[in-house]
Amino acid sequence: MTRILTNITVILFSLQTLWAQNYDESKVLPYKLPELLQTQAREKVTTIKEWEKIRRPEILKLFEDNIYGQVPKDFDQIKFELKKEDKTAMGGKATLKEVGITVSRNRKSVTINLVMFVPNKVKKPVPIFLVINNRGIRTMDATRERKDGFWPAEEVIDAGYGIAGFDVKDAAPDNKTAYVKGVLELYPEQLKINNGMGVLSAWAWGASRAIDYLEKDKAVDAKKIMTVGHSRGGKASLWCGAQDKRVVIAISNDSGESGAAISRRNFGETIKDILRTFPYWFCKNYHQYIDNEDKLPVDQHMLLALIAPRGVYVGNAAEDLWADPKGQYLSLVCAQPVYGLYGFETDLPAEMPAVNERVFRSHMGFHNREGKHNMTPYDWQQFIAFANNYFQKNAN
Ligand code: GCU
Repeated sequence: MTRILTNITVILFSLQTLWAQNYDESKVLPYKLPELLQTQAREKVTTIKEWEKIRRPEILKLFEDNIYGQVPKDFDQIKFELKKEDKTAMGGKATLKEVGITVSRNRKSVTINLVMFVPNKVKKPVPIFLVINNRGIRTMDATRERKDGFWPAEEVIDAGYGIAGFDVKDAAPDNKTAYVKGVLELYPEQLKINNGMGVLSAWAWGASRAIDYLEKDKAVDAKKIMTVGHSRGGKASLWCGAQDKRVVIAISNDSGESGAAISRRNFGETIKDILRTFPYWFCKNYHQYIDNEDKLPVDQHMLLALIAPRGVYVGNAAEDLWADPKGQYLSLVCAQPVYGLYGFETDLPAEMPAVNERVFRSHMGFHNREGKHNMTPYDWQQFIAFANNYFQKNAN
């Protein structure tokens, strides 16, 4: 009986959320984005130096203080343990490595388990995609008996890239109460402050520790490490790329609200919706902006701008209106002025490209594939094509 009642409540609750949602473009209200290139002291930012020395640090701190919470950098020790290596993986075309990355602080430790494949028949260290994986370790089967389009390792290897990934739960379980069992055990003081580390920050932190390892692996080109994430993982990928300058391209797929989508646009998921179900993803201060987006000192185009002068990619699915593909495209368009400071291409079309038509510029890319919320081999083909284009245009 209780179960039936609970189920009814869940259904009613979901219906109420559906009804409350705006999916009608004509009902999108006008909004004004915060100034990207103006400092808090109201000075115009016109040079790379002013951006890098003043405005960029200001914006980074605003995201930390108001949305995701801090990403602490200090720890006592980091150890890498090669748990398994198979040089004959995938019928001999790749090498598998399973690496335990153990980080300790104040006598507590956390282990991020990295699974990776790098191609064998290459002369140079390879660029690598690092997936912040919210779909579980089963999508990254090291034996390759089970293949999953979410992490299409064979296709990535065939394209000449490495692929790595870790299960987000190693850094922080994706659960309202259990999320504290992971990175947050290393930094318990974060739980007491209003701008303390939320789960997306913990996942971004985990990705940075994986990068600590990848930088040392001789098979990997340390200047070509890309983060990839789907949906909640996409939000973490962008946040990681915003802070960790070792990320050369931050790739997000269907990242939506508090990812690539403009929060002030009332279309699809809102801050209120996301905080209702996933308050633990963010810092406590984010609650101030429920039904109050206009007061946010930043919007998500500024998160993309923080990734400049490195690459940023925004993948979408046309049926995933909850994640507001158009709001994600507008975010890229509005981030362009920072790319312009670096003299890069800033001529993205004003209108979102048609379904299945990708747009690549030297440092920015976008696609909106047909179909539903998911990360598929089609999405990966676009990430690979964008990376090919990026490394060709920005050869070092
Ligand atoms: C929910 C959430 C989204 C998130 C998605 C996912 O739908 O509201 O913000 O992106 O889950 O991670 O799949």
